[in-house]
Amino acid sequence: MRKILFASSEVHPLVKTGGLADVSASLPLALHEQGQDVRIVMPAYRACLGALEGAVEVASIKLDGFLLPVTILESRLPNSDVVLWLVNSPYHFDRDGGPYSQPEGGDWPDNAARFALFSRAIAALAMDEAGLQWQPDILHCNDWQTGLAPALIADKPDRPATLFTIHNLAYQGVYSRDEFDALDLDESYWAIEGLEFYSQLSFIKGGLVFADKITTVSPSYAQEICTAEYGAGLEGLLSYRSEQGRLSGILNGIDHDEWNPKQDRYIAQPYSAKTIDKKSGNKAALQQLFSLPNEPKTLLLGLISRLVSQKGIDLTIAAVRQLLDEGASVQLVCLGSGDAEYERDLQVLRERFPDKVGVTIGYDEALSHQIEAGVDAFVMPSRFEPCGLNQLYSLRYGTLPIVRATGGLADSVEDADGLGGGTGFQFELATAEAMLVALKRADALYQQADLWRKMQVTAMKRDFSWQSSALDYLALYDELMA
Ligand code: ADP
Ligand code: GLC
Repeated sequence: MRKILFASSEVHPLVKTGGLADVSASLPLALHEQGQDVRIVMPAYRACLGALEGAVEVASIKLDGFLLPVTILESRLPNSDVVLWLVNSPYHFDRDGGPYSQPEGGDWPDNAARFALFSRAIAALAMDEAGLQWQPDILHCNDWQTGLAPALIADKPDRPATLFTIHNLAYQGVYSRDEFDALDLDESYWAIEGLEFYSQLSFIKGGLVFADKITTVSPSYAQEICTAEYGAGLEGLLSYRSEQGRLSGILNGIDHDEWNPKQDRYIAQPYSAKTIDKKSGNKAALQQLFSLPNEPKTLLLGLISRLVSQKGIDLTIAAVRQLLDEGASVQLVCLGSGDAEYERDLQVLRERFPDKVGVTIGYDEALSHQIEAGVDAFVMPSRFEPCGLNQLYSLRYGTLPIVRATGGLADSVEDADGLGGGTGFQFELATAEAMLVALKRADALYQQADLWRKMQVTAMKRDFSWQSSALDYLALYDELMA
């Protein structure tokens, strides 16, 4: 049994902005089920305090660079026995709004301090300095919000081995030299081989430079980030660590209980690969929900996403507009929120094609399940995609993904061969034209019901549960401890 401290800034169902939250619940749960002593640490946001009323204060620590001590609250990951520690600093985390952004939009101006405090608390827990009588063998950090922790303990004797997982290299936590000074970090960190990044402070470099090993969430993305196209300025460092054998990719799994069309509490008509005909009940319900004509034989496309450039929302809008202008009979339902420009462009598309396009702007857990169950195909034309979870959910729901061949999308979706083989549709270039070709291929195949059905059944049988990926993490933990 290994003792693992798993640090993340968002954990489903407590606080979520994206796939990191899903992974930060489902991976620890899978490790726990494999008999590991895994504990999660996250900030005590207001939403957590509300949801976890029974949380007990178990420690108080004074952290360098911060005036007031923070307390550690102990609870459990909802619906599980996994220990959850909350870093409680009301001044930093007990506020309305998102984990990173203000209620009215825009990042919190004190994010550097908030996540430096979080990282310092993680480091203290990793060194058993909070008096909890528990020191992990492995500290597993995730994304820039935890990045300083591996740096802070790198030189300490008797420290745990450290692993840093990149979920998205586009978010790096980069701040000014003034912020660096305000955080009371040792001057030695201000170096290229430290936290400095083009005269600024980079949180993510704490993980990339100082962690014993780095992973990212798919094998393809692990290679892509070593190139200038995908490396976001860090490709040199990442290539170096890769050459040292310190960087690898492990594909995310999904929670098979949470995402299971046989027993999904949100959907109109549960179904399985054997009873896939019943999926049409969900399609009818969804068309009704979005006030679209009930057309069982029209290809219904779905989109659930943060509305940001990464996700190629503009490509979807342009390709679908072109397809509908050409008179094709397809429908599209969208759920998302994010950049105002994409929200507006989706609404414009809906106004232009009111009986073809449905749009819900917002965040809606139940609706996301209903879309996965109700649509025929799911669009994900991402410019880059470290892993992507929605294509994995789609496969499980017999909803064929139409994806750009990048990162985890390339690693999880097999391109249709036109004869009933494959589990989805891939295209290479990040252009509306390339996506349009893929949409037309999908629509043509959809007209051949038996071939489509065959692909659906193959997709539903693909296993993306955590079983095998959790074993890959365990093997890596063992290497690190050896
Ligand atoms: P990313 O983390 O880059 O946003 P992923 O595909 O890894 O992309 O994970 C996105 C997660 O967030 C999925 O669980 C998806 O269902 C969920 N999600 C995204 N947008 C919404 C939304 N508007 N409503 C409900 N769930 C959403
Ligand atoms: C990030 C990535 C996404 C990945 C998720 C969980 O948000 O954008 O591709 O699936 O993290 O690892």
